[in-house]
Amino acid sequence: MAGVAVLFGVLSLGSGRGKGKNVPVDDRHRPLYDALKSGRTQTETELVCATCHGSSSIPLPKNHPPKEQCLICHLLSVK
Ligand code: HEC
Ligand code: HEC
Repeated sequence: MAGVAVLFGVLSLGSGRGKGKNVPVDDRHRPLYDALKSGRTQTETELVCATCHGSSSIPLPKNHPPKEQCLICHLLSVK
């Protein structure tokens, strides 16, 4: 039931199946945008995600899909 609701919400946001929310543009995430802009690769940047969104500090939701390559599913909020 919850899965259906999540899928519905995701679809209605128009981001497509299996995609998470966009990476927020805030003080914590802005350095990552800057890093990518200045030529850091996506893979290197994803390693940084894990320093905060690891098992210790900010755990991912229990039903989170396999979690390599964050940026495939969590798109940057491009302006
Ligand atoms: C410096 C620590 C830090 C780093 C690095 C970091 N995050 Fe976060 N992230 C947070 C915190 C804290 C929150 C919850 C509060 C907020 O929205 O800022 C969050 C929230 C999120 C959310 C949920 C936004 C929402 O609308 O609920 C997503 C998705 C996310 N981060 C993805 C990423 C991805 C992908 C990366 C790597 C590119 C990343 N984060 C790197 C600290 C970090
Ligand atoms: C296969 C696609 C996929 C990948 C790869 C992925 N995520 Fe997610 N992520 C999702 C989906 C879908 C959700 C929403 C799931 C839910 O509601 O439980 C989510 C939820 C989250 C949330 C909770 C905020 C929210 O949207 O409710 C954070 C934080 C997050 N992901 C961070 C990351 C980080 C950091 C990585 C890389 C280590 C990553 N994700 C890789 C699909 C993905």
